[in-house]
Amino acid sequence: MVYIKQLSEFEGKEVTLKGWVANRRDSKGLVFINLRDGSGLCQCVADENKITAGEFDQAGKLSLESAVEISGTVVKDERQIGGFEIQVTGLKTIQVAEEFPIAKKEHGIEFLMDQRHLWLRSQRQWAILRIRNTIIYSIHNFFQKEGFMQMDAPIFTGNACEGTSNLFETDFYGDPAYLSQSGQLYGEAMAMAFGKIYTFGPTFRAEKSKTRRHLSEFWMIEPEMAFYDIHQNMDLIENFLQYVIKEVLDKCQAELKLIDRDTSVLESSLNKFPRLTYDEAVAIIKGEKDVNGQNSIKSLEVELAEVEAKMIAIIAEINDRETKIAVPGMKKGEINFNQTKIANLKNDLKDLEESQRNIPQWIESAKNFRYGNDLGGSDETVITRLFDVPVMVYDWPHEVKAFYLKRNPENPRFARGVDVLAPEGYGEIVGGGERETNEQLLRDKIIEHDLPMADFEWYLDLRKYGSVPHAGFGLGLERLVTWLCKLKHVRESIPFPRMYGRLLP
Ligand code: 4AD
Ligand code: MG
Repeated sequence: MVYIKQLSEFEGKEVTLKGWVANRRDSKGLVFINLRDGSGLCQCVADENKITAGEFDQAGKLSLESAVEISGTVVKDERQIGGFEIQVTGLKTIQVAEEFPIAKKEHGIEFLMDQRHLWLRSQRQWAILRIRNTIIYSIHNFFQKEGFMQMDAPIFTGNACEGTSNLFETDFYGDPAYLSQSGQLYGEAMAMAFGKIYTFGPTFRAEKSKTRRHLSEFWMIEPEMAFYDIHQNMDLIENFLQYVIKEVLDKCQAELKLIDRDTSVLESSLNKFPRLTYDEAVAIIKGEKDVNGQNSIKSLEVELAEVEAKMIAIIAEINDRETKIAVPGMKKGEINFNQTKIANLKNDLKDLEESQRNIPQWIESAKNFRYGNDLGGSDETVITRLFDVPVMVYDWPHEVKAFYLKRNPENPRFARGVDVLAPEGYGEIVGGGERETNEQLLRDKIIEHDLPMADFEWYLDLRKYGSVPHAGFGLGLERLVTWLCKLKHVRESIPFPRMYGRLLP
């Protein structure tokens, strides 16, 4: 058996493919089957003069998603997806599928989410999850080539790492246990044993609200490095993300094209990432400081005006086309053409309406941002829209960040955390920082955060036995996939998303 991906090695030869029918079109004496085998897509042409009458009859009965075995000759054809076509010499039906619930027409997102087990077969989902695979593979490659050791942190945990508000509690032989929110504290212990390590595991956070950035179960990559400070940490983050972006650009051209990803921002992200302190970031968000001649508030106001002008033009075009269709005598083909146009225009209008709702909110929250607060989703959107590379924000007011972050020795109001904010409005994809090494400061913070001291004694031991400066970070895999693929929502970045209101399929 041969996979579609390998067809270029078999030009002019006879092969046997096994797969599913992604589309079927019949014309006189011919059946065109778009075959999907997981590795790619390929058109197979069944000619009634070249196969048995029984086989040709079967070909004509293949419904969408039927499983089939097809033998045929591989012919180069530049016009085809994948560049090859199969001239069928034999065909065996494996199963004729019942009517497939996902049709070619547009479906609502909740319906598609209910059909996630079948939706995965669509071309767009296929492309996104292949990009996800390339990202995962290149993450391992990067850390392995840099001499990191992959280690696993436990999933049942007895202590909170990122605060107690979003823990999933379970029963561990009669005692409460929590699903891991982060492997970091264990990562620190492993870094003291192995130098440079990374974990790559499932992470759980109870987020009782529906946002386009939050999953309840996601995958996090958490490197932790002994003898690194915050600046070395930022160097590593930049090298790491650029390596992954470059691999995706090199290896996923076809997939990126399939999902219509404009890759210019990915290419510009291979340039240096700006490093802003929290203070600088706040000044930019509030419009007190410009970036490359751009002001956050003014550019949003300009954009709002543009959005509204576009909406007026689109509404006019929709009305115009609808009036034309209503006049009797228009040819059927022309009516169809206009109806498709109208449907597309209505989709564009929906996106513009969303921007029209969002932009004023972003302007408001940017203007009213209170110095000292953590950045919210809309603040991240406001700042990242001004850049065409990821931005690193470091040195945060210590009150808004996790208990384990080191204070800046020159200015203890700030903790040495760093967030990486992805451009195009995506916002936080990485959170990390240098770790506090002073045992007493850590104990004070644990009390301040109202965490049970006894559960952290093992962690505090790390500050007693050969304590060294160290740092690390956590990358949310799905957030990275979402940005690199420019998805509207994180739910399409993982095969089976788990989030508020969604546990099936
Ligand atoms: O910023 P966070 O909470 O940082 C930590 O957990 C640190 N312990 C990491 C470390 O330094 N080792 O989470 C890290 C990243 C975020 O930047 C985001 O990309 C992702 O994890 N993330 C989520 N992704 C999807 N859904 C959620 N609910 C997420 N919460 C965090
Ligand atoms: Mg964070």
